[in-house]
Amino acid sequence: MSSDPRSLFDGKKFLKDAKTVAVVCDQFGDTGKGKIVDLLSASWADIVVRGTGGGNAGHTISVGTEKHVLHLVPCGILHEQAMNVIGSGVALDPKTFLDEVDVLSRAKISVNKLAVSSLAHLVLPYHIALDRVREASLGTGKIGTTGRGIGPTYTDFVNRTGLVANDLLNPDVFRKKLAKAIDESVRILRTYDPAVVREVMRQEILGRGAFYKDEKIIFDVPAIVAQYEKYGSALREFVRDTDALVREAVGKKNILLEGAQGHLLSLRYGTHPFVTSSDCSVGGLAEGSGMSVRDVDFALGLVKAPFMTRVGEGPFPTELGGEGAAVHCRNATRETEAKEYPNPSLNDKDDLIRGIAVRKVGNEYGATTGRARRTGWLDLPMLRYAARTNGPNVVLTKVDIADGTDVLKICESYIYDGEPYEWGGHKYQKGDALQVAVPDLYIMEHVRPQYTEIKGWKGPIGDIRTFDDLPKEVKNMVALLEKRAGVNVSLISVGPDREATVAGNPPRKA
Ligand code: IMP
Repeated sequence: MSSDPRSLFDGKKFLKDAKTVAVVCDQFGDTGKGKIVDLLSASWADIVVRGTGGGNAGHTISVGTEKHVLHLVPCGILHEQAMNVIGSGVALDPKTFLDEVDVLSRAKISVNKLAVSSLAHLVLPYHIALDRVREASLGTGKIGTTGRGIGPTYTDFVNRTGLVANDLLNPDVFRKKLAKAIDESVRILRTYDPAVVREVMRQEILGRGAFYKDEKIIFDVPAIVAQYEKYGSALREFVRDTDALVREAVGKKNILLEGAQGHLLSLRYGTHPFVTSSDCSVGGLAEGSGMSVRDVDFALGLVKAPFMTRVGEGPFPTELGGEGAAVHCRNATRETEAKEYPNPSLNDKDDLIRGIAVRKVGNEYGATTGRARRTGWLDLPMLRYAARTNGPNVVLTKVDIADGTDVLKICESYIYDGEPYEWGGHKYQKGDALQVAVPDLYIMEHVRPQYTEIKGWKGPIGDIRTFDDLPKEVKNMVALLEKRAGVNVSLISVGPDREATVAGNPPRKA
């Protein structure tokens, strides 16, 4: 039983037949994986593993009155019994990691059972520089990355020029590999405006110019080596062969895989180029954790309902306020919106204002970047698409955000309204109906959502702990999702705290 007397959720019972469970997101990320991983680690997990992404992720977890934002360290860290692993598929920025270790230690949270894979991909200053210089130079074509160097780090891995965490423990090897890899980055950076490169190299995240030499040479390699050798010394106690550790535990210990980002942002399944650079699906997560997807009993796919969000650029058919809202979000922050829109209503007739209200009520501002998240209605074609890979079990999150909304809209299907277009052996024509999202930019930019309207609930629902006690309108929404998207709603999150969770149907094994 959970140690919190206010919680009726019993993680051991909920996951009773499972040994390895993955927590992934069936949307665009930011669905509250941190809370669910924290909840399941508390009562069930022996090992929690991050397998994908890097410092681009940001999990805010609340414990009592305290809030913790973790970018790299798995959310199981708050529970002493759990071993926490940063797996071989993760892009590891040593500075971010060591800063987190510092924050945790100061908060008296033990890091004794924290391990980093010797194979974790090392994020180096030139990756961050490339990411930021590219984005700054792309103008309207930019992706809206988090600027953490994720794309260039994974590019180096595929290009066979990447460094790994273990290299930091062997200074000679580190220096040699760095010299080779950095040359290629310098050649690319020289093709950009030197003023932009200089500006980026002077940003806070790059040590305010500490690694900048001049326009021609760009990087001060000895400065990088000196700094990263220091990181290496501090990292030594954490670096392990975690693939072996995880393999050894499969089937014997309770393993929780902590996903990052979301299915629609997956390099493998998302809509290019508006994706991140790792595979956020259950398969990518398992692989990046050091195991096979066959070892995973089931995934829990997180789904924000009835409002979902997206950060950065890319298609979002159900966006509240459409293109105008997307443009607004490029520059909006919590502060600007607090000033300009003091009291937006979830029932406003203007969708842009409703979208701002969802953002404010749901605190939908990036944990990593502080950016305003774009807001929209739940999209079932996307959910059907994600569930094909991640399986039927879903966790509905942030359901309480809709408290007091009179009428809710759920996107049941799309109507295609582009030019004749071929994809996947099918010829799309104007007026075609689509039940499932398609990982193709042109199609996703040319679909119109078809909505079903359902009655909202008054709320508040944040104190409800059993399914029976939920308002009938919430139950209707759950039934509609289960029926129309073929999913199995296993948990419903009704508030940010661990205990604000209602159990639904038991999860089904694949
Ligand atoms: P990158 O991962 O920084 O390269 O960014 C690529 C895309 O993924 C951008 O649209 C980002 O906004 C998005 N993205 C990356 N990490 C997250 C996340 O943790 N939550 C939501 N979106 C993310």
